[in-house]
Amino acid sequence: MSKINVASLQKMKQNGEKFTVLTSYDSTFTSLINAAGVEVILVGDSLGMVLQGHDSTVPVTLEQMAYHVQCVARANSRCLLIGDLPFMSYATPEQTFQSATALMQAGAHMVKLEGGAWLLPTIRLLTERGIPVCGHLGLTPQSVNILGGYKVQGRTEAQAKQIRDDAMALAEAGAQLVVFECIPAALARDISAELPIPTIGIGAGVDTDGQVLVLHDMLGLFPKPPKFSRDYLAGCTGGVRGALETFVKEVKDKAFPGPEHSF
Ligand code: KIV
Repeated sequence: MSKINVASLQKMKQNGEKFTVLTSYDSTFTSLINAAGVEVILVGDSLGMVLQGHDSTVPVTLEQMAYHVQCVARANSRCLLIGDLPFMSYATPEQTFQSATALMQAGAHMVKLEGGAWLLPTIRLLTERGIPVCGHLGLTPQSVNILGGYKVQGRTEAQAKQIRDDAMALAEAGAQLVVFECIPAALARDISAELPIPTIGIGAGVDTDGQVLVLHDMLGLFPKPPKFSRDYLAGCTGGVRGALETFVKEVKDKAFPGPEHSF
């Protein structure tokens, strides 16, 4: 299997072929995820919740993210590897440049940051200097204390327009991928059709170009999985490897996410 880069994902978008993204934080799962044919690994700051036991991603530090990017990069053979910039590591363009450099030198191929128009100068600075950027719109977990909880975003006309305008602006500034988290499926479908760059959905319906899940959610490791996830290990005879392969197949076949996983 050939190595995945942004151009591969762009080609898949053009061909209408769905791609898969999973979070990973260590080398063991990274090997399994590579073998299962997943295209993209996100070293997400969700590790603050699923590894560290916090109730949000806010406490995660840049040093912790760099450590987990290193662990993943050692075992990664094929996937595009995205590293999440954690809370307050990208408050100014200059700070972002230092933080993003740390994740790239730890082994990331791209960095992800949460937010809209206020990030445009930052995205221009990074991309002009050779650091690829993935945006993140809709429910942005680092802003949970502003949003007042983990709620679906973009339900009103004004919010939907804001998300659409932000997505266009991020792409124009140089972002090469964008994640939509917990937004109505119809909104994600319309923006994905209009946007020149590949989109990745989580709780955003079946019509984004790629689908991402948090590894621990899709392996059913928590008693109450979020509505937008599915426990791929339940009833799977092939163990973790089988669960990962089923996820890949269901996304490619557009069998996941179903309406019951969408808003
Ligand atoms: O941190 C993370 O795992 C994420 C995904 C939920 C997209 O940002």
